[in-house]
Amino acid sequence: MSPKETTAWVDLQSHAYYMSQSHISTLFSESPNRFAQFGFTQDNLLLDLSKQRITDETLNLLIELAKERNLPNWIESLFKGDHINDSEDRPALHTALRTPKGTTLEVDGVEIIEEVHQNLERMEAIVKKIHSGQWRGFTGHSINTVVNIGVGGSDLGPLMACKALAEYQPEEAQNLTVHFVSSMDGSQLADLLSHLNPARTLFVISSKSFTTIDTLANANTAKEWLKQAGNTASEEVLVSRHFIGVSASPDKALSWGIPKSNQLAFWDWTGGRYSMWSTIGLPIALKLGMKGFREVLAGAHNMDTHFRETPLEQNLPVLIAMVGIWNINFLNINAHAILPYDGRLNHLPAYLEQLEMESNGKSVTRKGKATDYNTCPILWGEVGTNAQHAFYQLLHQGTESVMCDFIVAAKRYHDTDNSELMHQHQLNLANCLAQSRILALGDTVIKGAENAPAYKRYKGNQPCTTLLLDELTPHTFGQIIAMYEHKVFVQSVIWDINPFDQWGVELGKKVATTLLDALSPNASTEDFDASTQGLLQHISMRNK
Ligand code: F6P
Repeated sequence: MSPKETTAWVDLQSHAYYMSQSHISTLFSESPNRFAQFGFTQDNLLLDLSKQRITDETLNLLIELAKERNLPNWIESLFKGDHINDSEDRPALHTALRTPKGTTLEVDGVEIIEEVHQNLERMEAIVKKIHSGQWRGFTGHSINTVVNIGVGGSDLGPLMACKALAEYQPEEAQNLTVHFVSSMDGSQLADLLSHLNPARTLFVISSKSFTTIDTLANANTAKEWLKQAGNTASEEVLVSRHFIGVSASPDKALSWGIPKSNQLAFWDWTGGRYSMWSTIGLPIALKLGMKGFREVLAGAHNMDTHFRETPLEQNLPVLIAMVGIWNINFLNINAHAILPYDGRLNHLPAYLEQLEMESNGKSVTRKGKATDYNTCPILWGEVGTNAQHAFYQLLHQGTESVMCDFIVAAKRYHDTDNSELMHQHQLNLANCLAQSRILALGDTVIKGAENAPAYKRYKGNQPCTTLLLDELTPHTFGQIIAMYEHKVFVQSVIWDINPFDQWGVELGKKVATTLLDALSPNASTEDFDASTQGLLQHISMRNK
């Protein structure tokens, strides 16, 4: 049944007709207690939905909609390992990757939690070998630099985590620098290689499929660089001393040259963008130590338990998802800004862009029917205070309605004696609170603003969510990322789409292959459209 045929959807439509006339500032004057009404806590997180354009009735109807869409059953199917990724006929078991030891979960006849922990132990052994200086390069020197080569889910999560949690780097990891390379054009790698010592550099080739051309191209360049530096060592020695492969396709990694002893595996039931909890998290473990990585996993597991066990009415991922549904499908808001007020979370917007848009950027249902309702909005974002000097103009005075997520830690720099740094935290908090206040309430926050000329007015009414963490720690970091993962899942259930495949990225890969052929000298271009032909000819002329 289409979500539009549910009673709750129909009721939400009538309710939206009335609510779309209302302003968030009026909702606050009518109900000054909104914070108590729409503030929800879980462990060290506070989710403030009071600056959304909602009332009690809105939330009740949204929860009804979730129930009519059988959300509780879907949640169980996710955790139990049912084949809910139907187009690829497999489960989506990222939650199993953070399930503590001692739990049992049999999927398709295999006990997987035990396997998950065996993999973590192999990972731990490698991390220890590198940290202790026992992993030696081709000259016999220890490793002091790790370069993760991967893209999408094999890059963004570890990159984000390493930046976000850098201050938790333990003593034993202090001498190790971790870099990330993803871009197909080689520009990141070329820049980086010129500063690195081949004898002390280890490359982690992270690719679920081990067929991604971006990653393989960078890996080949890295191998070539090492061959040139270590010309007396055989390729076999160079690869075994300087490359680790992390993949769900061990045979492909082996064919590329990485021996099984240098490989860390994971499973095809781990989606690429859900994989940082698996051995794809190796760079995180190298940066934070295994203890830190396990804390991230524990934070995510804490959110999993909350998601699975808490009534929908108090369930953070469910609430944030359903309020998104309200904005998208009933208030017709199709842009979503991710605004971390924390420089450590500067990669969070890019991470969520992939998580949300690659998961739910779909327009056919699980049964292959075109949806006649909107699905994933366009997401983008930036560190909030930087964005204030860039695109906030549009948020405040443009024509687009945009829903905004503000993410901020209440506590920071408490162990510093630099009072200026502490002041910077206060400044940051003040700006975060000021911006969500103006975006939601408009210039009603300033007395007499109604007398200002039109170009100085702020209309407000942009729905804002604030996610306030006590502190950014490995644990809270794990919690918030898992919360967003589950949010995406909940929305997919409402929209009746499969969030775990990504067929929309395949055609580009095929067409690029034909264009690669067309770029070779004297290749025929006649099968291409006029624009592509013209561009190919221009490129060819410029390269003569
Ligand atoms: O092309 C999209 C994609 O498949 C993403 O889903 C994935 O995270 C990324 O490419 C990298 O894939 P792989 O880990 O297989 O190299």
